[in-house]
Amino acid sequence: MNRTEILRKYIDEILLNMTDVEERRCAYLHLYGVAQFCALIALKRGKNAELATMSGMLHDIYSYAKMDSKDHAHRGAILARKILESLHITNADETKMICCAIYNHSEKEMVHSEFDEILKDADVFQHCLYNTTFEIKAHEKSRYEKLKLEFGIA
Ligand SMILES: [Fe+2]
Repeated sequence: MNRTEILRKYIDEILLNMTDVEERRCAYLHLYGVAQFCALIALKRGKNAELATMSGMLHDIYSYAKMDSKDHAHRGAILARKILESLHITNADETKMICCAIYNHSEKEMVHSEFDEILKDADVFQHCLYNTTFEIKAHEKSRYEKLKLEFGIA
């Protein structure tokens, strides 16, 4: 099986075990929405879309698996490493790239590596494009404006 699909199957099992139906719906929309925006942004920037997709699928898994969003980026990076190592679908460098992006993804006001930035921007895109009539959150405004310019939709 394709490794993105192996990961999807694993993520689906976690999400299907969520007892709160509304939270489960949010989890599906957000994780797979971000994963798809990761692919779009990575392709636009000439980066690895497959690994970016995987980072999107895993980036908030800690919050949804534990129903606790406190320090979820750092804790999520540890959980993502465990998952990737148990599935044997990435090499050490790939695991490091994905987990580093997850580790840094909450720090939207900072700029990290080009690969890390894909996940942060995809997270913002998913939040902002979920419903374009909702008000954009203050901490996501500048990234969203830059993304719209980059994609020619400003
Ligand atoms: Fe997120």
